[in-house]
Amino acid sequence: MARLKSLANLDALRKAILAERDPDKPCITICAGTGCQASGCEIVALAFEEELKKNGVEAKIDLKKTGCHGFCEQGPLVVIYPQEICYTKVKASDVTEIVSQSILDDKITDRLLYADPMTKEKINRESDIPFYKNQKRLIFGDNSKVDPKNIADYIALGGYSALAKALFEMTPEEVVEEVKKSGLRGRGGGGFPTGRKWEECRNAAGDIKYVIVNADEGDPGAYMDRSILEGNPHSVLEGLIIGAYAIGATIGYIYVRQEYPLAVENVGIAIKQAEEYGFIGQNILGSGFDFTVKVHRGAGAFISGESSALMTALEGQVGEPKPKHIHTVIKGVWDRPSALNNVETWANIPLIINKTADWFASIGTEGSKGTKIFSLVGKVNNTGLVEVPMGTTLREIIYDIGGGILKGKKFKAVQTGGPSGGCIPEKFLDTKIDYDELTKLGSMMGSGGMIVMDEDSCMVDVARYFTDFLCDESCGKCLPCREGLRRMREILTDITEGKGTEEDLGLLEELAPVIADTALCALGQTAPNPVMSTLRYFRDEYEAHIREKRCPAYQCKALTSYYIDPTKCKACMICLRNCPVEAISGGKNQVHVIDQGKCTKCGTCFDVCPTKFGAVTRISGEPVPAPPPERERELVRTE
Ligand SMILES: Cc1cc2nc3c(=O)[nH]c(=O)nc-3n(C[C@H](O)[C@H](O)[C@H](O)COP(=O)(O)O)c2cc1C
Ligand code: FES
Repeated sequence: MARLKSLANLDALRKAILAERDPDKPCITICAGTGCQASGCEIVALAFEEELKKNGVEAKIDLKKTGCHGFCEQGPLVVIYPQEICYTKVKASDVTEIVSQSILDDKITDRLLYADPMTKEKINRESDIPFYKNQKRLIFGDNSKVDPKNIADYIALGGYSALAKALFEMTPEEVVEEVKKSGLRGRGGGGFPTGRKWEECRNAAGDIKYVIVNADEGDPGAYMDRSILEGNPHSVLEGLIIGAYAIGATIGYIYVRQEYPLAVENVGIAIKQAEEYGFIGQNILGSGFDFTVKVHRGAGAFISGESSALMTALEGQVGEPKPKHIHTVIKGVWDRPSALNNVETWANIPLIINKTADWFASIGTEGSKGTKIFSLVGKVNNTGLVEVPMGTTLREIIYDIGGGILKGKKFKAVQTGGPSGGCIPEKFLDTKIDYDELTKLGSMMGSGGMIVMDEDSCMVDVARYFTDFLCDESCGKCLPCREGLRRMREILTDITEGKGTEEDLGLLEELAPVIADTALCALGQTAPNPVMSTLRYFRDEYEAHIREKRCPAYQCKALTSYYIDPTKCKACMICLRNCPVEAISGGKNQVHVIDQGKCTKCGTCFDVCPTKFGAVTRISGEPVPAPPPERERELVRTE
């Protein structure tokens, strides 16, 4: 493909791509995101290829591998257009049936449709599945329509028209103004207004400026950025080029974690194709604007996602944060003005330019505009990536989209904002999500992690778990974070092991604000959130651990025991056979007994004991009843 040398060339190219495509031609799309790859989509795709050939219809049907659709737990996902029939958990062995029914005939393979867990109703179309129906997928929607390795798919959907508009119809200052007016705030954590950041960088002194994509995404369980980069890399690239034009940068970096091989691969292909077509390089589309992009693979430390640490890593040094007396928009990479934005922030830019700032600002709340993608995980029925307008309530996400709590259990808390977010209790489920509302509750938007916890989660243990993670990830450069988090972890560990004292709560309450106020970077400044929020909303759980040596959720091993109620045991042998450490004794006619010395408190016996017997019992805060003496263990069967 020859480089496009003018705006007219781009229009002609789009028309040519569309002219070649028959909108009525059936298309089988197979999700090839990392989630579906893990569940075997590649062999499903191969099976489709062979089956279409076997039936001699390969020329009449398009076969496309797309990016992540978001509902990864149902993968591999296959969607057939134009009817939009969505098949879930597809295996290679299902392909012959799908082709004969839905391609060669006009039927639907019922057993592969998604069934609503509540109503059991089977749903044909992907967009009618409640998980998708209640979302507004402005950023993520095209993931299921484009082959990320084929730039023509992106162009066919109007891709790079925002870049053309910015280059030929707007001055750089007007682009900055439009982004400011849109109210877009950074999606990577801090929620800083993007337009203001660009303006400061544009106005900063210096001929060489950089624009950077932050695709480090170190939050455990979060994969929004990975899925955008893997599934629709051109949307991020287009935003980046527009940003570079607005700011006056000629070099861009995409900082992506090495552990995201598919994102690295797809973004590399996208850059190459964009260069070939003339969207990157010298004299872009004949506008006179020059811009190049390089990919930098991160070495996988959570702290490297922090802005100054990331820039230090880009320079080839160890990724450690620096004090920000001077902002990175003035003195960033190699001391030059640098504008760093999150993947999702960049992906919003083409939309704002194409659809206008007013349109964008009409979505969301007073202080938070547009949509936000969340990684919904934990104890919900539907886990996956969820894009909703700002202002959607936590309840809507967890119940309408997430399908409620797994196994009908009781909701306990939702942690938003990644490992240093806070845990929000049930009474705030109707909170409208926006940057400021979440901060008021002691949590934060962060980059969009959302972990749902049920009645079986111990909130003291949750605080210990995240403090432990942050303690390990602290770079150790500043004392409050390095030593303060260690002390917090020690105190929390003591409490979960039944060694906590009343003074410990006071100590945690004293330590947490000191770390938050004095740490060098936002890792330490936000790290006390899990502790502070659980102390605020679940203090009774801390008190039960300290005063009664009891874990109300039966999660803290040192405070929990399992025993078999001899009056309920039917000697069915199930617990005995499943115990991984052979701690259970008994026979076919003998009630079973757990050897407390051998038991590792893994809870397997409790999970496998048939509900109708309910013989295995969890206890906490009280002594384990003595088992019946050997001679009284014989079971008298009445049935
Ligand atoms: C410990 C730590 C890790 C971070 N990790 C990321 C990350 O992985 N991705 C990201 O976009 N921002 C991350 N941030 C936020 C960045 O410092 C920065 O605010 C953001 O990239 C700016 O882009 P935005 O304005 O578009 O959000 C992290 C911050 C901290 C303190
Ligand atoms: S990877 Fe296929 S739905 Fe996410």
